[in-house]
Amino acid sequence: MRHIQPQICQHGFVVLFFLLPLPGKGADRGPTPAYYLSAQSVSVASGLCVEIPCTFTVPAGSTLSTRVTGIWKRKETPDIVAASTEASMVSNGTKGRFTLTGKVHEGNCSFSISNAQPADQGFYEFRIEEGSHKYSYSWDKLNVNVTDLPEPTISPVGELIAGKPITLTCTAHPAPQGCKGNITWGGRINIENIYNYEREDQAGKVTSISDITVTPSQREHNSPLTCTVTYSGVSTNSSITLGVQYPPSVTITVPDAPRSPAIWDCTSAGCRVEVIEGTSLSLLCSAESNPPANLSWEKMGQSSTDPLNSSSGRLNVGPVTAHNEGEYMCRARNKHGDSTASAIVVIIYAPRRLTITYCNITGNSVLCLYYKTLHYNFYTFWSHAHW
Ligand SMILES: *[C@@H]1O[C@H](CO)[C@@H](O)[C@H](O)[C@H]1NC(C)=O
Ligand SMILES: *[C@@H]1O[C@H](CO)[C@@H](O)[C@H](O)[C@H]1NC(C)=O
Ligand SMILES: *[C@@H]1O[C@H](CO)[C@@H](O)[C@H](O)[C@H]1NC(C)=O
Ligand SMILES: *[C@@H]1O[C@H](CO)[C@@H](O)[C@H](O)[C@H]1NC(C)=O
Ligand SMILES: *[C@@H]1O[C@H](CO)[C@@H](O)[C@H](O)[C@H]1NC(C)=O
Ligand SMILES: *[C@@H]1O[C@H](CO)[C@@H](O)[C@H](O)[C@H]1NC(C)=O
Ligand SMILES: *[C@@H]1O[C@H](CO)[C@@H](O)[C@H](O)[C@H]1NC(C)=O
Ligand SMILES: *[C@@H]1O[C@H](CO)[C@@H](O)[C@H](O)[C@H]1NC(C)=O
Repeated sequence: MRHIQPQICQHGFVVLFFLLPLPGKGADRGPTPAYYLSAQSVSVASGLCVEIPCTFTVPAGSTLSTRVTGIWKRKETPDIVAASTEASMVSNGTKGRFTLTGKVHEGNCSFSISNAQPADQGFYEFRIEEGSHKYSYSWDKLNVNVTDLPEPTISPVGELIAGKPITLTCTAHPAPQGCKGNITWGGRINIENIYNYEREDQAGKVTSISDITVTPSQREHNSPLTCTVTYSGVSTNSSITLGVQYPPSVTITVPDAPRSPAIWDCTSAGCRVEVIEGTSLSLLCSAESNPPANLSWEKMGQSSTDPLNSSSGRLNVGPVTAHNEGEYMCRARNKHGDSTASAIVVIIYAPRRLTITYCNITGNSVLCLYYKTLHYNFYTFWSHAHW
């Protein structure tokens, strides 16, 4: 299937060019050297724009007037995507997005694509028409690749430290000046300062960058932070989950209540626990922190502050005796600080057999001194008997 197209040269002779629609077969014939088109295949991200520089030549001796029409069409389809005249012939899918920007009579076939769509991917060819002088540069097919629009990147991605101001940066995918993006941020964290700027590379592509200053707090730990880049036709975003490190805040609870101990009362300041002698005591220490804190228990007022044997913050003592009475402190520590809470432990004794300490025998009466222990108060009283 050969196309035979009449071509009118300057001198009015009709010359027939044999054009092969596809390269490859009979490659030795090549295109007519005088009809030459130079354009580089391009890759454009979906939603963005691209300018495709292109020049072409016509054979020496032929000229192009300002009446020449340049047409870009999809290869192997009748779809005209851009034309230097007659916008009506441009197919609906590309209307307003593909623009022939070059001055065709100057041999400039540059065109631009804005808001690129995945369907734009494919091969295109250029064609000129001026009266009966028509030529398709079908040998010089132009490949347009449409890639997915990359997400912006947020840095740094590491852990933040509560109370320490930090600058986070969102960097958009480079885009031509004509379709550069705007960066916006979303998230729970309060943005104290925002600085948007651009960096232009040698190819003229603009990278939009946004720096924000935030002072993270424990409240924002595990909350998302989103950076959205809005281009003229599309937007893309990327999210990170904030990891905020903070010192521990410790609380004590009584896990077995109310079975044992008998009475307990915990506030943010600590606990007061009453335990019946002979039963066991359990206290659970837990810390809200990032990274996880080391927990240790110690009994106050002891000569040694050796930590008590506890695992995962749970202190078990039992069965308790009067010796276990006292103040127990749990300490939680991570690299950002420490925090303590304490529990006052009171041992409740069942009323005991009275202890006769001594008796005073005066005449026929005996007066004895008794001790009775309840709670940890000593009750002393005298009792007397007569005989
Ligand atoms: C377009 O994509 C094809 C494969 O899909 C690849 O071979 C070619 O190199 C790409 N061209 C450009 C300009 O990126
Ligand atoms: C473009 O769309 C309009 C309205 O939807 C329709 O009338 C016209 O025929 C379409 N043109 C082409 C080339 O598809
Ligand atoms: C072709 O036209 C484009 C768009 O107007 C322009 O940017 C480019 O410089 C021109 N190229 C030449 C070689 O004149
Ligand atoms: C980007 O922001 C500027 C200034 O805020 C605005 O003029 C422009 O229209 C925005 N562009 C897009 C694509 O949203
Ligand atoms: C981010 O983009 C996704 C689609 O890629 C969308 O579903 C989501 O709503 C966007 N998030 C924000 C905060 O814009
Ligand atoms: C701590 O408890 C574990 C298990 O209950 C035990 O093996 C270990 O010997 C105890 N250590 C001390 C110092 O009491
Ligand atoms: C926590 O305990 C581990 C093991 O005992 C120790 O290596 C680490 O240094 C401790 N961390 C802090 C903050 O005390
Ligand atoms: C014993 O009782 C007598 C008479 O009531 C009193 O004078 C004496 O001081 C008592 N002795 C003691 C040790 O309390």
